[in-house]
Amino acid sequence: MDENVFDQKMPRRSFLDWLIRGGLFATLAGMLAPALAYLWPVTHRGPATGMAEIGREDEIPVGGSKKMVTGGTTLLVVRTAKEFRAFSAVCTHLGCIVFWDSQKNQIACPCHAGFFDLDGHVVAGPPPRPLQVYPVQVMDGKVFVKL
Ligand code: FES
Repeated sequence: MDENVFDQKMPRRSFLDWLIRGGLFATLAGMLAPALAYLWPVTHRGPATGMAEIGREDEIPVGGSKKMVTGGTTLLVVRTAKEFRAFSAVCTHLGCIVFWDSQKNQIACPCHAGFFDLDGHVVAGPPPRPLQVYPVQVMDGKVFVKL
């Protein structure tokens, strides 16, 4: 019985040819995949880059909200009868996390009674600046926020 079974099944030269061809194929595939992904129509693969998926549209009822941390940003997404609105959930006063007060139809800060409207503008309290507002896009039943 021969000790070197490998040499019997595949000569060294064939193995090296196979290895080089495989490496070339992997390199070409690695170069072509991003180019094809770039050229593929956006509507077939989702929203533009920089968009964070918040969840399904039906997860947030009309008049409701959702808080989440994505991409290092704490977001508050509010669903009105007409649209979704997204804000930084960090209060511009001293950084407390705001929440959606559906009774008052305002964004409220629990720390010092700061209130913001649905454009992020300060309505009452000590916050010195409006909340940062982020663009929202709904696509195929999913909600995305551009960070
Ligand atoms: S931290 Fe929000 S009002 Fe002070």
